[in-house]
Amino acid sequence: MSMTLARAKEKLQKYGQEHVLKFYHELSEQEQANLLEQIENSDMDILDSCMHQEKLQERGVITPLAAMEIPEIAANRESFTATGLEAIRAGKVGAVLLAGGMGTRLGSDAPKGVYNVGITREIYIFECLVNNLMEVVRQADAWIHLFVMTSDKNHEATVKFLTDHEFFGYKAEYVHFFQQKMALAVDYKGKVYLEDKARMASSPNGNGGWFISMKEAGLVDLAHREGIEWLNAFSVDNVLQRIADPCFVGATIRKECVAGAKVVAKVTPDEKVGAICLEDGRPSIVEYYDMTPELMEAKDAQGKPAYHFGVILNYLFNVKELERIVSQSLPLHVVEKKIPYLNEEGEMVKPEAPNGYKFENLILDMIHQMGSCLPYEVVREKEFAPIKNRTGIDSVESARELLQRNGVTL
Ligand code: UTP
Repeated sequence: MSMTLARAKEKLQKYGQEHVLKFYHELSEQEQANLLEQIENSDMDILDSCMHQEKLQERGVITPLAAMEIPEIAANRESFTATGLEAIRAGKVGAVLLAGGMGTRLGSDAPKGVYNVGITREIYIFECLVNNLMEVVRQADAWIHLFVMTSDKNHEATVKFLTDHEFFGYKAEYVHFFQQKMALAVDYKGKVYLEDKARMASSPNGNGGWFISMKEAGLVDLAHREGIEWLNAFSVDNVLQRIADPCFVGATIRKECVAGAKVVAKVTPDEKVGAICLEDGRPSIVEYYDMTPELMEAKDAQGKPAYHFGVILNYLFNVKELERIVSQSLPLHVVEKKIPYLNEEGEMVKPEAPNGYKFENLILDMIHQMGSCLPYEVVREKEFAPIKNRTGIDSVESARELLQRNGVTL
């Protein structure tokens, strides 16, 4: 025990974080052990990157990447769908639900998926997603493995909710949970906050670590055993999205790409979605806050906007390609955030404004590691209803309207 305390002190000293032991002497033995374990297991190398953010943002040369647009998809729908269904029936396609986020903008402490979007009846976000996937299961007449990523903050609640609801009719043997990693949260000087006397503040480390976490949980082995060659990773909050969409899968296979990204035509050049492009000749995504006026105005060879298609967090990845890149590191994103913390006096503070940083890896950066990627256009009104906020843009309200327009009874 004392050895561990000594080791912890040494590590904290190295990173200038000794203050996290401030209340150590007040803790129970169990709490002390937990804190030491957290110190031991936390990556502190990342902490000082919030002091060098300019360096993190350097980009390569951006050029256009043509999307497969709706007319081309419509003209080939039958044959792409046949190819996709064949892959699904052969068990080659799995789905990965990214549900480790905190959903802070929605303002509920519960996992986002348990949010009830119903009006006259109960219908939960998770339920909408399962219903969408079930349509493909029925069409293919084959179950699709569904991997669900959670985090420390919502794992138990997520598993309990889905189990209590019997996975909304999904076959239990085809649902697999795994947890993503956490990253420490710091103040503007890079000092780790305490979330209580016995724990450093942390938050989920972003949706970019999903494949590594899935692998560490032994689920990539399972995927190999089951013959899964493609994984469709998607966000928890888009209640209209098509999952394991046979036409999308088929188009990606037929175009001989190792990845695919569902995209929508942007409504305005400055819309807050990441634009798909090439960066130094490889597929990539420029986030909306990195879009320069030049990029927004740029035209392609046909005179159309060159960076017109935005990603909607629905990606298809070839598993072999994921294995190839698994050891490559992803860029670190430093995000300003409101972090509840324990002050010097040991009192909890819930800040009204951002007071520090969290660290994240993002799935969109994995696209840049792929050898190729097919941007696949979807009809926004049919497939894109993200729930980020309670009201306004990308909200419960806007998603309800879109769900109803697509025939879902709320
Ligand atoms: P968002 O970027 O919307 O983040 O996540 P969020 O944490 O859910 O919501 P806010 O920003 O706090 O309001 C997009 C998708 O990525 C998942 C989310 O669950 C959502 O499906 N995600 C995000 C993770 O799985 N892990 C993370 O660490 C972050």
